Amino acid sequence: MSVVDDVTDTPGWPVLRRWPRESAARAVLITLLVCTICSALIATVVSVLQPYREQNRALERTQRIRELVAGVPGLEDLVGPLGSARLEPRVVDLASGSYVEGVDPALLDARAAARDPASSIALPPGRDLAGIGRRANLATVFEVFENGELRLLVLPVHGAGYVSTLYGYLALDADLDTVRGLSFHEHGETPGLGSEIENPRWREQWSGKRLRDPSGELRIEVARGRAPASGEDAAHQVDGITGATRTGIGVTRLLRFWVGPDGFGPFLERLRRERGEP
Ligand SMILES: Cc1cc2nc3c(=O)[nH]c(=O)nc-3n(C[C@H](O)[C@H](O)[C@H](O)COP(=O)(O)O)c2cc1C
Repeated sequence: MSVVDDVTDTPGWPVLRRWPRESAARAVLITLLVCTICSALIATVVSVLQPYREQNRALERTQRIRELVAGVPGLEDLVGPLGSARLEPRVVDLASGSYVEGVDPALLDARAAARDPASSIALPPGRDLAGIGRRANLATVFEVFENGELRLLVLPVHGAGYVSTLYGYLALDADLDTVRGLSFHEHGETPGLGSEIENPRWREQWSGKRLRDPSGELRIEVARGRAPASGEDAAHQVDGITGATRTGIGVTRLLRFWVGPDGFGPFLERLRRERGEP
């Protein structure tokens, strides 16, 4: 068969007929055409699937957050049913008060970090109000948003009680000063005495208490005995627990430590500054 016949017989676009079946130019052209068509197809598929991928990522993230919340004892208790609210775990660098990106909150082990000198600081006795010896550099906080506005800020807190370390969460109102709740999920205090920090009747006294007085002084406190019903202290104090004065002192100290300069103080200040508050 002649080359001319071969070319004439070639099916397809007229442009392909210009080259004989075995020519290199024809092979390159066909390869280019196939590649272009395939890339266009792939690009179309990718762009069509993009919204689904984003939706899946968002679902995956919500699921991970749900698992994280369910895995944090006491947190669901404080935050309550989320309804339309959105709960966002964030990792915070305590020294600077800034958010840390690129660290998965679910993988951050604050207790292990606090034991490791590479990821924690030693607290000299004068600064160690909570009696914890070392403080991890990073901490996971939980922010609850509703309609895009911060509704609740949940901070992990811990410190020495009477015979054990008390681990809990402090929930603050969006004003970053009014307590919305305090829960302890782990401790080894004496049942019936120090363990009364878990008693819902004692716990419910915290809601509405203010961390600071109008001059900015840190006043939050477990009273010795009954908290006053009126007067300046009433806004900051809850009842002491009978027979567990030392546990109460531990709670006061750990709260003041964690909202103070070596705890979440720089973070709270940064949030206030960003809102334009002094
Ligand atoms: C067996 C035993 C267990 C105790 N457990 C606690 C406790 O969990 N928390 C606490 O503050 N005090 C506890 N105490 C009491 C403290 O020794 C201390 O007397 C108490 O904190 C003083 O509180 P009060 O002034 O309210 O009596 C315990 C005492 C005993 C004998």
